[in-house]
Amino acid sequence: MIDIHSHILPGIDDGAQTVEDSINMAKLAVEEGITKIIATPHHQNGKYNNKKHDIISRVSDLNQILQNEKIPLEVLPGQETRIYGEMTDDIDKGEILPLNHTNYLFIELPSGHIPRYTEQLLFDIQLKGFTPIIVHPERNSGVMENPDKLLHLVKKGALTQVTAGSVTGYFGKKIQRLSKQLIEANMTHFISSDAHNVTNRSFHIRESIAEVNKEFGSQAVYYFQENAELVAKGQTIYKSEPSSIKRKKFLGIF
Ligand SMILES: [Fe+2]
Repeated sequence: MIDIHSHILPGIDDGAQTVEDSINMAKLAVEEGITKIIATPHHQNGKYNNKKHDIISRVSDLNQILQNEKIPLEVLPGQETRIYGEMTDDIDKGEILPLNHTNYLFIELPSGHIPRYTEQLLFDIQLKGFTPIIVHPERNSGVMENPDKLLHLVKKGALTQVTAGSVTGYFGKKIQRLSKQLIEANMTHFISSDAHNVTNRSFHIRESIAEVNKEFGSQAVYYFQENAELVAKGQTIYKSEPSSIKRKKFLGIF
């Protein structure tokens, strides 16, 4: 199984701080059934900047360490870029790193809102031949207030990734409910860990699979696992026509 979102590289963001942290995360990932993991350090989020070439060399260093430790986990390069106005210029400058060198790019929205220029930027990114994947939309206040804003972006070609811990209820009932509604409405295409450590921001992958299986059946589990594999290979993923979340249901009246 592949996990496409993690902060497993040591000492470059708020994920693993030391090599030992990375090793502990890798061991737990293997216990969770993960064989490949994309390292997606924060970029342009106001606190951390991690450019493409630096990430690539750090991924290779960590793979060497894991091999020496005989931990059967392969780390692949990626980046979690916070949306910013000059992003397309920086794609041209070679600072932005898509997931495992494919044409799929992680985009993080600020947690408090959806910036006005989002739609245009996602359009421009697609014009450059990349497919944007909006990470953890279920934790964005703008999406929580009006999921149709996300629906609009998905209809315009963006993909989305929900966090495993959101599905299991780790981030609270409200986020769990929205995560399930996004799954039900075909508004999300990936579930991944966004693991930062092995304590308060861990993987929750196994638990999330059990939850998806219980709520949506084994086909849904297959859909998410297969999509993660396809994205890492740069292939076309499975999609179904997204629909709006019914308002009453969204508010939790039913
Ligand atoms: Fe992340």
